[in-house]
Amino acid sequence: MSGTDTGAGADAIKTAVVQGSPSGIAQAAELIAHGEVVAFPTETVYGLGADAANADAVARIFAAKDRPRFNPLIVHVASIDAVRRLGRLPAIAEDLVARHWPGPLTLVLQRQADCPVANLATAGLDTIALRIPSDPTATTLLEVTGRPIAAPSANRSGEVSPTDARHVVASLGGRIPLVLAGGRSRVGLESTVLDVSADTPVLLRPGAVTRAEIEALIGPISVEATDDGGRPRSPGLMLRHYAPAARLRLDAADATAGEALLAFGPTQFLGKHALAVANLSESGDLTEAAANLFGHLRALDRPEHQAIAVMPIPEEGLGAAINDRLRRAAS
Ligand code: TXA
Ligand code: MG
Repeated sequence: MSGTDTGAGADAIKTAVVQGSPSGIAQAAELIAHGEVVAFPTETVYGLGADAANADAVARIFAAKDRPRFNPLIVHVASIDAVRRLGRLPAIAEDLVARHWPGPLTLVLQRQADCPVANLATAGLDTIALRIPSDPTATTLLEVTGRPIAAPSANRSGEVSPTDARHVVASLGGRIPLVLAGGRSRVGLESTVLDVSADTPVLLRPGAVTRAEIEALIGPISVEATDDGGRPRSPGLMLRHYAPAARLRLDAADATAGEALLAFGPTQFLGKHALAVANLSESGDLTEAAANLFGHLRALDRPEHQAIAVMPIPEEGLGAAINDRLRRAAS
């Protein structure tokens, strides 16, 4: 099968489809090690995966999907040991994990202090969503790469999730180098997402592991009202994303005294009055800017900075997602 030309900003590339055999998995692992994105089967839906510790690779996921905003992604790993290296698994989740991992359950945990996952993958949050998939191709891919793999569903933004390699090619052909094929997804619906990062567990997204199954193991949980896409229905709940303490001044030409400067593009004559300067991309590359966004915001978010002056970002490609985050962070 070959890729289709999609235009829409991304250069058309040839999309190879390979079976999840040892050689196919080795090819996928090689691409992931080089910071590329690869579609792979899981028991829920096909995922579009990249090395979660590589911010540029994670930015490529958002670019390929045409995602209008940076939602935190699920990070996939092969073992409980790997989970514990990235997040703090609370005692309350032990029975749940023993019963449902590997499987269609995602847990939101507090990030470990030395968690190497890119800020872009967790949207700048102090929490991380983790899952051990049960699909054998996914498991082998995770073992062979030896890296945590960030993966949303392998479809363009706004389309339904793919449950067959052909769906992935129809949606992302010409935009990604490889699809690992592994037949039809057994579950066919995204994983259950349960937040156990605070005292009371909260069901963020219903899925194959039901509320009743969860409560039978860990007792009463609360449920967040969401739409079909798992997005919070109440605008108030949309606040579960990184918000800097410092005020953001958007569309700034330069920083004034007392401000830090979040730059984009060449800054040779800028930042003279800034207390600190961080550049999202000197060369004006939006993928690089996306990869740097949350890390740079965190670095400039200091009490001594009266505000963070943010230079304008073009509203094209990943620029739309960057601006969406900046507007939320500013409001
Ligand atoms: O079945 C699945 O979960 C598939 C396969 C590929 O594993 N993946 C998937 O990923 O559906 P995605 O990115 O489309 O869904 C991620 C969900 C979103 O509802 C997101 O808001 C939530 O997980 N999420 C991720 N990190 C979070 C965090 N730190 N706190 C709260 N919610 C988080
Ligand atoms: Mg999706």
